[in-house]
Amino acid sequence: MTSRTHIGSPYMQYAKLRSAAKYNLASSGMMSYPLADLPVKIEDLEITGSDMYGYVALKERLARRNGVTVDNVVCAAGTSMANHLAFAATLEPGDEALVERPAYELLPTTLEYLDVSVRYFDRRMEEDFRVDPDEVARRMTPQTRMIVLTNLHNPTGALIDEATLRAVGELARQRNAWVLVDEVYLEAMFEQRPRPAIHLGEQFLVTSSLTKAYGLSGLRCGWVLAAPELVERMWHIHDLYGVNAAHPAERLSAIALDNLDSVAQRAKQVLAANRPVLDSFLQSRDDLACVRPAFGTVAFPKLLTRSVQELDRLLREKYETGVVPGHFFDAPQHFRIGIGGDPEMTRAAFERLGKALDELR
Ligand SMILES: Cc1ncc(COP(=O)(O)O)c(C=O)c1O
Repeated sequence: MTSRTHIGSPYMQYAKLRSAAKYNLASSGMMSYPLADLPVKIEDLEITGSDMYGYVALKERLARRNGVTVDNVVCAAGTSMANHLAFAATLEPGDEALVERPAYELLPTTLEYLDVSVRYFDRRMEEDFRVDPDEVARRMTPQTRMIVLTNLHNPTGALIDEATLRAVGELARQRNAWVLVDEVYLEAMFEQRPRPAIHLGEQFLVTSSLTKAYGLSGLRCGWVLAAPELVERMWHIHDLYGVNAAHPAERLSAIALDNLDSVAQRAKQVLAANRPVLDSFLQSRDDLACVRPAFGTVAFPKLLTRSVQELDRLLREKYETGVVPGHFFDAPQHFRIGIGGDPEMTRAAFERLGKALDELR
């Protein structure tokens, strides 16, 4: 059992306290969207609401956007709390969850906090980090109660196609297990976003938020999509975590959803400027190997020459540039690059990364 008094996330502490840099390639999300650009009037806001299980106007918008009913929606403080609720409502202490590797560290850490034991299946670079259902099947045991995936994959940006999701869903169904798909980066596909995996069967739970693709992190507008019985269970667990959400944030989230096309427009422009810079940077480097993602805000190159620790130190000390070292994802020869930052800053950051890599040759 994990000690509750010592629980914590080394990755989250790093992200909050040590990842900041003038030239920032460490963030996985879109640069912040300014409040001033949202059409908000003071009379649109109110301090306290009356809906006790999620602001109905917000749930309606989330349901419509995802092709489900409000009975399928739980609102939560970001994908982070959404994942926590989804795990807590489906898994018992002693159950086992099968998590992809490389993994976003908060997924296994939260599972362990809930006394769920974690096993991994690998997404391999040689296979473009795809999910291999045969590998998932091999790694399942009679105790496996959930398979945990991110789509798009953090840290690589790889997309899982519907056929693969269906194959994993079938494995789960046969063995009475759940599939949780964290789709927070799928939002960054905008019009090309496939429908949420909740539509693939009752064994699927989907979590997401407005955080990563739209630069709306401060709203903490997250959600779980799941079968109604689970939704009810999650709302009851949510009662233990702060009663209800800050109502001004719920109102602002509803306004953001009403104006999501314009919010997305800015995000698309940022990515349209930054992706070619990432592509030509990767093209120019024979000291890096990378599966180049077609979508999303991150990439996960492998450094072929020196240690990522040396690169990280040099980048920070001499070049004021931040990337996320791969050891946080159990892949120490890799590092994660984010391309959701201001385009001018991002271009300068890639130049600096190039200089640091040249220096380490
Ligand atoms: C896969 C994944 N899920 C969830 C989160 C947290 O998202 P949120 O800010 O919506 O809580 C992150 C943040 O990096 C993430 O990478």
